[in-house]
Amino acid sequence: MDIKSEPSSRSSGEPAQTTEDRRWRLVNRTMRMHGNEPHALIETLHSVQEHFGFLDLDALKYVAGALRVPLSRVYAVATFYHYFTLKPPGEHTCVVCKGTACYIGGASSILDSIQQEVGIGPGETTSDGQISLLTARCLGSCGLAPATVFDGQICGRMTSAAVLERIRRWTNHDTGD
Ligand code: FES
Repeated sequence: MDIKSEPSSRSSGEPAQTTEDRRWRLVNRTMRMHGNEPHALIETLHSVQEHFGFLDLDALKYVAGALRVPLSRVYAVATFYHYFTLKPPGEHTCVVCKGTACYIGGASSILDSIQQEVGIGPGETTSDGQISLLTARCLGSCGLAPATVFDGQICGRMTSAAVLERIRRWTNHDTGD
């Protein structure tokens, strides 16, 4: 997947991982499919939401710059539609991919395991504000299915046990990777 026609008018808020993270390549592809024009805004925000699970400020800035849309308008659209989730409130974020490859690979049982462990479902945050659980539709790493993102880091070929081990590090206040 090439990225050579990425928008040239990026804002200074471009996510540092833009050229390395496959998810951004998929978002960039969405923008290209719409000519990198302002009318691609909602479609692009959908793409960010689908691939990242939420829209944080860096993402909003990047989309605004790439599509030449005022950040205020991007923010207004992102907050108007219920579908869009701004950065989740949890201190840590776990995004489980529910795309086809990951679903076949066991994403549902991973979600079930997390729910049993910390008592939250997709879109929810633990009562102590420590962990937010989200889902995404394909992270662009299908070869690593089932994939999960822990605080922005994509991890592949996950099992329920491996996911729970990561989550227990958070709940045990162990910030090591
Ligand atoms: S379906 Fe999960 S990474 Fe593509």
